[in-house]
Amino acid sequence: MLNIVVFVSGRGSNLKSILNSIENREMNAEILAVVSDNIDCPAFQIAQKHKIPTFTVGNEKKDGIISYSQLINNLKDLKIGLIVLAGFLKKIPEELIDSFQNRIINIHPALLPAFGGKGMYGINVHRAVFEKSCKVSGATVHFVDKIYDNGKIIAQRCVEIEDVKTPEQIAEKVLSVEHQILPFVIRKFSEGKIVISEPRVRILE
Ligand code: GAR
Repeated sequence: MLNIVVFVSGRGSNLKSILNSIENREMNAEILAVVSDNIDCPAFQIAQKHKIPTFTVGNEKKDGIISYSQLINNLKDLKIGLIVLAGFLKKIPEELIDSFQNRIINIHPALLPAFGGKGMYGINVHRAVFEKSCKVSGATVHFVDKIYDNGKIIAQRCVEIEDVKTPEQIAEKVLSVEHQILPFVIRKFSEGKIVISEPRVRILE
């Protein structure tokens, strides 16, 4: 059984897609906690509905907010095998990356290495893709390292956007493949079928 923690900042539709996949018994995994930088995020309501503990993390010393060091201790206690960034918009501190080497993955709503980096999240990404007049976009799942959107790519899926009229239409198309590709990668990870054979990451059948 793979113990997962999911990091979110907003709506939580990717969190929902992982929960659906677990409920449909497509993977042998469990979400033991949901973490956010935003105490009021709608994704927390999804977690609470599923009776999953939530943690708000940050650098401020305020009631209800824990530090990253406290969070790392909690995650170690929970024996977390995989951290999934599913729409988490803050940079992950190095101490967390060091503690979970090759066990943190992120979903990005474009075909990396294009349209990534600081400030490239959510609709900003789709606007940039739209303004560049790209004919395809897509979703990328990658390992997280110390540089934004830089880690090795695990899986990508394209969508055709030749005829879209707005960035929001790109967002909608990309989101529907995000909801397939992220549970797929987590399932493969839970089966031990994601193999790092330098310089490439391979997904076994
Ligand atoms: C998703 O589109 C995800 O790819 C994106 O935020 C959205 C979160 O939606 N992440 C980034 O832009 C990270 N750079 P959700 O809360 O409904 O899952």
